[in-house]
Amino acid sequence: MPRPKVLITHSLFEPARKALDEKCDTEYWTAATHIPRAELLMRVADKDALICLLTEKVDEELLSKAPRLRIAATVSVGYDNLDISACTHHKVAATNTPGVLDDTTADTAWMIMMAAARRLSEAETWLRSGTWPGWDLDQLCGADIWGKTLGIVGFGRIGREMARRAKGFRMRTLYHDAARVGSEIESKLAAEFVSFDRILFESDFITLHVPLTAQTHHLFGTKTFAQMKPTAYVVNTSRGPVVDEAALLEAIKSGKIAGAALDVFEFEPKVSPELLALKNVVVTPHIGSASLETRTKMALVAADNVIALFEGRRPPTLINPEVLAGQTATSS
Ligand code: GLV
Repeated sequence: MPRPKVLITHSLFEPARKALDEKCDTEYWTAATHIPRAELLMRVADKDALICLLTEKVDEELLSKAPRLRIAATVSVGYDNLDISACTHHKVAATNTPGVLDDTTADTAWMIMMAAARRLSEAETWLRSGTWPGWDLDQLCGADIWGKTLGIVGFGRIGREMARRAKGFRMRTLYHDAARVGSEIESKLAAEFVSFDRILFESDFITLHVPLTAQTHHLFGTKTFAQMKPTAYVVNTSRGPVVDEAALLEAIKSGKIAGAALDVFEFEPKVSPELLALKNVVVTPHIGSASLETRTKMALVAADNVIALFEGRRPPTLINPEVLAGQTATSS
């Protein structure tokens, strides 16, 4: 069987490269900047597999230019960069990297939530500026998180990790999702299923863990912020467009909510300078899963999906199983 030709739009990490190089004819994009779209379209044209990043779109245009393509593996848990119905139409398996980044991403959400509550960025910026006059009683007083109510929107793996952390920090946890989880999970995580409105009305911190879809686009906007407590914070480590950024800016500036902790932005890599100027907004540059251990595992999951397909196994984290109905994979 000829070795599958794989385009990888990043140099990945050594263990993933080793696994791929052993079994496939690999072509890596190793430049420091992301692969330009035209380059991607050109290079993918004769490939059997593509390993890509969340910054690269796999859509009808790309798929129609890559007739041999059998699998598109994104090195991310969110897969809004993949047009799944177009992949299925072209019989291209689509895979993502769930399961290996839940703790790391929840840690990031927790970290920025605490940073917003306790004014970490503001405090550090002041100290580093060399103008801190020394301790004072009413200086930099933030908000406690312990004893407060955490509202989790999206109760998948990462949302549940937030509930686990909330228990340790003695917070009350509410969650909302399209479907309610079993009572065993609810009682283990001490999480109460409530309506979306109750999340908005009752939470002191609202953390978002939904995928970006047509339904979740601008889930948080003017109307939503108006229903939140003026003392509440919103935390977003999911996808930027889940929050209407202009509405968020307005809500914070007008005091409708207390602040925000954001790891993702509506128009990445652009971030509104007005948002950046606000002291009560903590920002990080989309580092949710960015620990070396976790990113290495994500790359390995993507590599394993590709290798599995060409070894005639089902890719472990296949999103569109209907593409494999009644067939085994071989490169041709
Ligand atoms: C990162 O944003 C991911 O989806 O893995």
